[in-house]
Amino acid sequence: MTSPSRRALIAGNWKMHRTIAGSVELARAIADGARIGARTDVVVAPVATALAAVATALRGTAVQVAGQHCHWEDQGAFTGEISAEMLADAGCRWCLVGHSERRHLFAETDAMVHRKTVAVLRRGLVPIVCVGETLAEREGGVTFEVLRRQWQGAIGDLTGDDALRFAGGLVLAYEPVWAIGTGRTAKASDAQAAHAYLRDRIRHDFGDVADRVRILYGGSVKPDNAAELLAQPDVDGLLVGGASLDAAGFSRIIQAAG
Ligand code: 13P
Repeated sequence: MTSPSRRALIAGNWKMHRTIAGSVELARAIADGARIGARTDVVVAPVATALAAVATALRGTAVQVAGQHCHWEDQGAFTGEISAEMLADAGCRWCLVGHSERRHLFAETDAMVHRKTVAVLRRGLVPIVCVGETLAEREGGVTFEVLRRQWQGAIGDLTGDDALRFAGGLVLAYEPVWAIGTGRTAKASDAQAAHAYLRDRIRHDFGDVADRVRILYGGSVKPDNAAELLAQPDVDGLLVGGASLDAAGFSRIIQAAG
């Protein structure tokens, strides 16, 4: 985390955990307990049913709210889906897009990730676009190929200007699938190599905007490994799953960002 042009971003993805009351309690504990640096953004992504209540509880604090996913249309006959507009209405400023669990468990394709990214940007929310290779892909030596395909699939014909014009920018999250929920964090040097590769691709497609796009690392981030990951020059923040469900631990991760 070096560049003066990028604020740190620590995001907690609560996945399918917590009731409304439990989410509000966790959100309050994080907002009350964490010492949030002046150059750090903190975001939590509760379940959809808790979004509005959490956003209300966090009003006036430094913690913001993200949706975990959305549909690309504003409204329509899409049973079970939520639009970016509805997320904004519930108080969200951010939305995860293309999380590996969406890609692998719910068959989200690169083309869908692109449509969602555009929809989120158009609504004025910040997309946190997730990319990452499986273990087989890493062992097969195709990690960078996968990252390149997922990055290009997500942006499609978007330009760097588009990404910055619509909202507070675009955020990428590198989440190696084999590190998610496994307790097996990527080595800091491997994370850095993937992030540097992604920043190169962003520069290739977006030019100097690459210096402003934040790239988060996600996958078994814990209070004990956060600082080492954040010390890498191209790691601009963290996307935290399991450890974000514990207010004290998540607060320590936030503190590691400064
Ligand atoms: P864990 O931190 O539980 O490995 O989850 C990472 C993740 O998927 C965040 O989006």
